[in-house]
Amino acid sequence: MAATQIAPASGKLGILTPGLGAVSTTFMAGVFALRRGLAAPTGSLTQLGTIRLGKRTENRSPRIADFVPLSGLDDLVFGAWDIFPDNAYDAACKAGVLEKDLLEQVRDDLTAIEPMTAVFDRRFVKKLDGPHIKRQATLWDRAQALKEDILAFKERTGAERLVMIWCASTETFLTAAAVHQSLAAFEEGLKGNDPAIAPSMIYAYAAISLGIPYANGAPNLSADIPALEELARKGSVPMAGKDFKTGQTLMKTILAPGFKARLLGLSGWFSTNILGNRDGEVLDDPESFKTKEESKLGVLDSILQPHLYPDLYGQLFHKVRINYYPPRGDNKEGWDNIDIFGWLGYPMQIKIDFLCRDSILAAPIVLDVALFLDLAARAGMGGIQEWLSFYFKSPIHAPDLYPEHDLFIQLMKLKNTLRHLRGEDLITHLGLEYYD
Ligand SMILES: NC(=O)c1ccc[n+]([C@@H]2O[C@H](COP(=O)([O-])OP(=O)(O)OC[C@H]3O[C@@H](n4cnc5c(N)ncnc54)[C@H](O)[C@@H]3O)[C@@H](O)[C@H]2O)c1
Repeated sequence: MAATQIAPASGKLGILTPGLGAVSTTFMAGVFALRRGLAAPTGSLTQLGTIRLGKRTENRSPRIADFVPLSGLDDLVFGAWDIFPDNAYDAACKAGVLEKDLLEQVRDDLTAIEPMTAVFDRRFVKKLDGPHIKRQATLWDRAQALKEDILAFKERTGAERLVMIWCASTETFLTAAAVHQSLAAFEEGLKGNDPAIAPSMIYAYAAISLGIPYANGAPNLSADIPALEELARKGSVPMAGKDFKTGQTLMKTILAPGFKARLLGLSGWFSTNILGNRDGEVLDDPESFKTKEESKLGVLDSILQPHLYPDLYGQLFHKVRINYYPPRGDNKEGWDNIDIFGWLGYPMQIKIDFLCRDSILAAPIVLDVALFLDLAARAGMGGIQEWLSFYFKSPIHAPDLYPEHDLFIQLMKLKNTLRHLRGEDLITHLGLEYYD
């Protein structure tokens, strides 16, 4: 198999995040801490992962970072937009994820990151209101202003390439309307202030039209509309999403494939959370929660395939709750009660109490997705990057395919994509390697 031509990862890579809150500041502070050798990049495949090549007997398992050309941590620069003017240091202090001690050591780096004014519309995030926003009369003009921000950032930092990752609040639930169906309709809608265009779509539009890869870390409808997919296809711009796979859903996509593999039945899965950060506050609004709920509920059905196993999974009662509870801050507690059944239908229960740090789980995902999207762009891979489904609760996918949620299949797909890029044999784990 021939290797794909991949442009080198030379110069600086700018990572732009709409949203300078818990996730993005934990990510940025983490990169600064890593650069100084203050901590380890735990949870990051690009920094720690290896990839097996060839037959098992060959003992070839290079680090992913040595196998494909990725930007190094020293070459990353950061930019953000937020509806509040706090710089990344102040925002990180407010988010309360990282300890003061660590933040003090990277204070100067964080303080230098001042958010640009946001494109915001309260109709899409009812629980928030902030003063640091763009006020141009049309959505079109706001999109142009975002493009100017991006070009000015590039100029200021000397970044050679950019990627954008939505790390802002979850927007309310939307389904694709007429204005989302084609690029022409969408651009008309921007000029006519169509009320169905959400701010996240405007950021995505600005990025993709400048050839900048875009990923959505939240569950809301954003670049996953025909209009923006068309734009991405036309410009061969990579896009990925959506909703970072952390916390309870990460656990679900680890456990459910195991139950399914052993053909253990499931009659109920009740998940509840208490969460006290700003994300929890936004999700306290039923419309924002509905967006999250849709994203969380889809996972089990697609892993368990109840249409193939109606007796085992056809009657599953799946419920997800998120409760805003300020005393916990970013340290979410998630309980799962799982009702399973085994041989002869005998019932059993599994209880999970996950004392989770959401942004600690999300930060390495932001890093990996940014580095892999940039790799995809340099390898000429445009459109939806399904191989990055590994990182998302609700993977965006081509309309004629169903999404893959099983974490282990997702990982295999990701690694096989890397092998393919480098012209190595794909590994399916199906070969009779003992006899090779
Ligand atoms: N932490 C996780 O594990 C996790 C997992 C999956 C998804 N997410 C999603 O990631 C996003 C960020 O999470 P977080 O914990 O950092 O939330 P956060 O509330 O701490 O940060 C979000 C920031 O976005 C800003 N914002 C809102 N609308 C904006 C806009 N239109 N433009 C620019 N900024 C805007 C807010 O002011 C806030 O500072 C949320 O949508 C969340 O649902 C987080």
